[in-house]
Amino acid sequence: MTTTATTGSAGTYQPVPEDKFSFGLWTVGWQAVDVFGPATRPPMDPAYAVHKLAELGAWGVTFHDNDVFEFDADDQARDQALASFRKALDETGVVVPMVTTNLFGHPVFKDGGFTSNDRGVRRFALAKVARNLDLAAELGAKTFVMWGGREGAESAFAKDVGLALDRYREAVNRLADYVLEQGYDLRFAIEPKPNEPRGDILLPTIGHALAFIETLDHPEMVGLNPEVGHEEMAGLNFAAGIAQALWHGKLFHIDLNGQHGPRFDQDLRFGAGNLRGAFALVDLLETHGYDGPRHFDFKPPRTEDEAGVWASAAGCMRNYLVLRERAAAFRADPEVQAALEESGLGTLAEPTLAPGETLADVRAESHDIDTMAARGFGFERLDQLAMDHLLGIGRQSR
Ligand code: GCO
Ligand code: MN
Ligand code: MN
Repeated sequence: MTTTATTGSAGTYQPVPEDKFSFGLWTVGWQAVDVFGPATRPPMDPAYAVHKLAELGAWGVTFHDNDVFEFDADDQARDQALASFRKALDETGVVVPMVTTNLFGHPVFKDGGFTSNDRGVRRFALAKVARNLDLAAELGAKTFVMWGGREGAESAFAKDVGLALDRYREAVNRLADYVLEQGYDLRFAIEPKPNEPRGDILLPTIGHALAFIETLDHPEMVGLNPEVGHEEMAGLNFAAGIAQALWHGKLFHIDLNGQHGPRFDQDLRFGAGNLRGAFALVDLLETHGYDGPRHFDFKPPRTEDEAGVWASAAGCMRNYLVLRERAAAFRADPEVQAALEESGLGTLAEPTLAPGETLADVRAESHDIDTMAARGFGFERLDQLAMDHLLGIGRQSR
């Protein structure tokens, strides 16, 4: 293997805690039950997963309440499970940056949690989340994710979307009140998804969720946890959505994984699927001030044994580090800088009207339409330079 122009972790791509890589317990611990067949892997003890992730170089671990203790665990079983999990955290130094609640697995949530047509279910869902907020705060998590996988419907006649959004808003408002009352240092991050497991899920995309957040009592406490695969399932450009989320100051957390376009939620390891999209995403995150966790939400395929699970987890981090190195080399390349200059991007930062100018000034000036119409932007050359860097063809070899 030939080495490239730049180095990056001395070319070893060995993750370190400063990279802020985190994994959901439900990712490496997934037993690979799917719609067509039962588990292909045995259960994984959360404490064991923490130790293995630490060995691989991960910084953080995240979980749903019921990844650590059973849905029907009594207080003693809950405490026991949490004690073993905490011991693993203490032994490894792995942190818990984010916690979330399972409001989708148990049959009671078959029509959703916050937006179930059954008011009793909605009240139970709120109680379950509030208890889990206490746990999140205790463990030092800063972000509480809300993925409303069952908040939706299969039939247009089964759900009044407006009323369901009223109840969703009521739930987030009451939970935000609770966080404020308790003085917890926690923010909420809503995770959009268009479908699966419901036929249609509420708040299906980044855009829907951003608009919803602005209607809340405490919009400043609520942001997003977008997932690569979820936007791509809807045929959307993930990096472009993330750029807008950053523009709104709403990228509180992120779920990194891989997806091959609009189809079922593949949850491939990061870098698999749309590799060019992943390159653009890493470039964006690394250049636009995102300093939150790089959180992987993937599912090691059903074909994998435990060794395959760790290979897949290590691959997520390796691909991020390789793409980060390639993106930095792209930005540092003088040919790229010249192409960026030619593209006009620099002047996009300039307000269209100068200070003090009015529309009347613009209307009064003469516009050289022919010259402007004849201009090329050089975007293809720029894009090919990006492609060369992604493929590892350094400047010297071009
Ligand atoms: C999915 C979702 C989930 C959530 C998780 C945390 O499509 O299954 O991405 O994995 O991220 O429940 O909220
Ligand atoms: Mn997913
Ligand atoms: Mn996710």
